[in-house]
Amino acid sequence: MADVLWEWSKSGTRHAALHRLLRRLPGTGSAGAYRFGLVERPHYAYGVRRATELAARLGHRGVTVVEFGVAGGNGLLALAEHARYYAAATGVAVRVVGFDSGAGMPATRDPRDLPYLFGPGFYTMDHDRLRARLGEAELVLGDLAETLPAYLASRAELLRRHPVGFVSLDLDYYSSTVTALEVFRRPAHEHLLPRVTCYLDDVPGTIERIGEAAAIADFNADHPARPIGRVLGLRAFTPFDPPWADQIYVHHRLDHPDYARLEVGATGDQLPLSP
Ligand SMILES: C[S@@+](CC[C@H](N)C(=O)[O-])C[C@H]1O[C@@H](n2cnc3c(N)ncnc32)[C@H](O)[C@@H]1O
Repeated sequence: MADVLWEWSKSGTRHAALHRLLRRLPGTGSAGAYRFGLVERPHYAYGVRRATELAARLGHRGVTVVEFGVAGGNGLLALAEHARYYAAATGVAVRVVGFDSGAGMPATRDPRDLPYLFGPGFYTMDHDRLRARLGEAELVLGDLAETLPAYLASRAELLRRHPVGFVSLDLDYYSSTVTALEVFRRPAHEHLLPRVTCYLDDVPGTIERIGEAAAIADFNADHPARPIGRVLGLRAFTPFDPPWADQIYVHHRLDHPDYARLEVGATGDQLPLSP
């Protein structure tokens, strides 16, 4: 009994059980599952929804969503499924790109890489099996320090037509996350939406001076006009207040030419006095 109670005391267990229950209810089709976050990796679905909504409001016909750190590929496949759903729902074309070494974790480079948790060779990939299931999603293999700058330079025109709108950071190391944030440093404004939703997988259980959180802090210190910060109070606005809502961040590009364009429909615009 104590073991059952122990498991049940964790919000992750309760959420998984609730999801299984709700998904079985008659009438919970795809639209219901997406609306209430009952899909596989709901944080990815949330990111794709935010990206496509913002793209549509700003008149873009395409958007790019990115997973940094692919491992076996379950996350990238879920991202691709959500991309298909929201592309059909919004009419915004969604390009999906995953970056990974393809050979598992590299050697650690910095004590802030959480070397006590992760090490070289963790999370290898079966390339052929994954590629066979990827569909149109793109998989870029190699050390991010080489592949990301090359990708950003060679895909400039594609990114202009499909600006980046969602980024998942799941590279575990501080040093790899610093490299991934090149995606916000290097490209021209036109290659990014003015606000880019981010999901940070590896923040829980760490502290602010190590790992992903330290990489974000360094970025913010260097780029005061382009902060990345956690969305405050998001749980309260998200069905069933899931724990992942605490891991949603947004990169605000205050100097982006579209930053101040009103997102028509994002909020009500009147608060009349009650009768
Ligand atoms: C925890 S796994 C990703 C898990 C995946 N997102 C999922 O949801 O299943 C972390 C991945 O980051 C990749 N990685 C870490 N540092 C990297 C780097 N500098 N360059 C390329 N890949 C890197 C590793 O190869 C590893 O597969």
